[in-house]
Amino acid sequence: MKKTILISGGAGFIGSHVVRRFVNKYPDYHIYNIDVLTYAGNLENLKDVEDYENYTFLRGDITDENFVKTIFNEYKFSSVIHLAAESHVDRSIADPLAFAKTNILGTMVLLNAAKQCWNNSMENKLFYHISTDEVYGTLDSTGLFTEKTPYDPNSPYSASKASSDHFVRAYGETYKLPFIISNCSNNYGSYQFPEKLIPLFINNILNNQSLPVYGDGNYTRDWLYVTDHADAIDLVFHKGKVNDTYNIGGFNEWKNIDLVRLLCRIMDEKLNKSEEKSSKKLITFVKDRPGHDLRYAIDASKVQKELGWNPSVTFEEGLEKTIDWYLGNKEWLEHVISGEYQTYYEKQYNN
Ligand code: NAD
Ligand code: TYD
Repeated sequence: MKKTILISGGAGFIGSHVVRRFVNKYPDYHIYNIDVLTYAGNLENLKDVEDYENYTFLRGDITDENFVKTIFNEYKFSSVIHLAAESHVDRSIADPLAFAKTNILGTMVLLNAAKQCWNNSMENKLFYHISTDEVYGTLDSTGLFTEKTPYDPNSPYSASKASSDHFVRAYGETYKLPFIISNCSNNYGSYQFPEKLIPLFINNILNNQSLPVYGDGNYTRDWLYVTDHADAIDLVFHKGKVNDTYNIGGFNEWKNIDLVRLLCRIMDEKLNKSEEKSSKKLITFVKDRPGHDLRYAIDASKVQKELGWNPSVTFEEGLEKTIDWYLGNKEWLEHVISGEYQTYYEKQYNN
């Protein structure tokens, strides 16, 4: 069936993988990508699909009510897949208001426009909100986040995402807006901006810069290869139960320090570095992140059982593919490491 889908944040890391997947797999759908192109949004991420007939880029801010209303009126989207957000915890600690604005207000503006546009009939409409496992707060060394775990966010980023999830659910209850929410664990893969752990450390190894591990490095994350997340988003969008929530994760927990050592080992092999010159020597323990969540781990059995989703690559495979991509796309890296990046880096790591 023909669908007109608004994907927000499609020029970002995960969004670009979702746009690429949908325009290739569903030639009958028309994909509109709204993105304001912050430091994290980059049209180079979508160069391979920019000329597709079933793809349109709309440069705009999701917090701009007039713009969002205008595009809903003009294109009559039947569904929204909402990924646009400020997404980096460290930046949220430095500038929490920017996170409230985009993540909370921006989500509400999209919800309002969808509600208005779909007022006559909510049939076959869907607001699919992409969220994070960080809304659940932190785990100690045992247990997993399920869809029933109470929200308990600790950082301004996770608090803003939790708030946006609540608004999506509230629009479902109050205005009967059909929605789905999925909460996913840490993603990694190609096109990720080099401020998040894995691409930052790949970039630093390439530049022989230190690898700043926060605290003692014993923090645990559950890593998922980004195209496996895009695969889950596709399944949830088409087969998920409306007004329901799905947790998505990699069944793949790593302590940061172990992950960094594995990354160094693979990089050393790729760069022909001897043990003496190993990238491991760049590891530096630095001041901890305030309010650092100890452990995230997702119970993804619901999406597995109900929708038949499973991650397709092991962590070692995914990490190697990711490293190969960054080694083969140094120009992309150079382009995103702009003046703004240098200023951010100075502020974040040289204090
Ligand atoms: P990202 O930071 O790489 O990309 C975000 C995109 O949103 C960028 O293209 C940016 O330009 C755009 N954007 C930001 N503010 C905007 C605004 N006001 N108007 C329009 N566009 C705007 O983020 P990502 O890592 O791809 O994450 C995408 C979504 O997935 C986010 O909602 C995030 O919370 C969620 N998520 C991310 C992860 C992860 O590990 N990266 C895990 C779970 C959930
Ligand atoms: P990050 O990629 O920022 O994702 P999130 O905070 O959303 O989980 O960080 C992943 C883990 O790596 C987290 O425990 C913080 C840690 N970390 C470092 O130790 N050093 C760094 O420079 C960064 C960016 C992250």
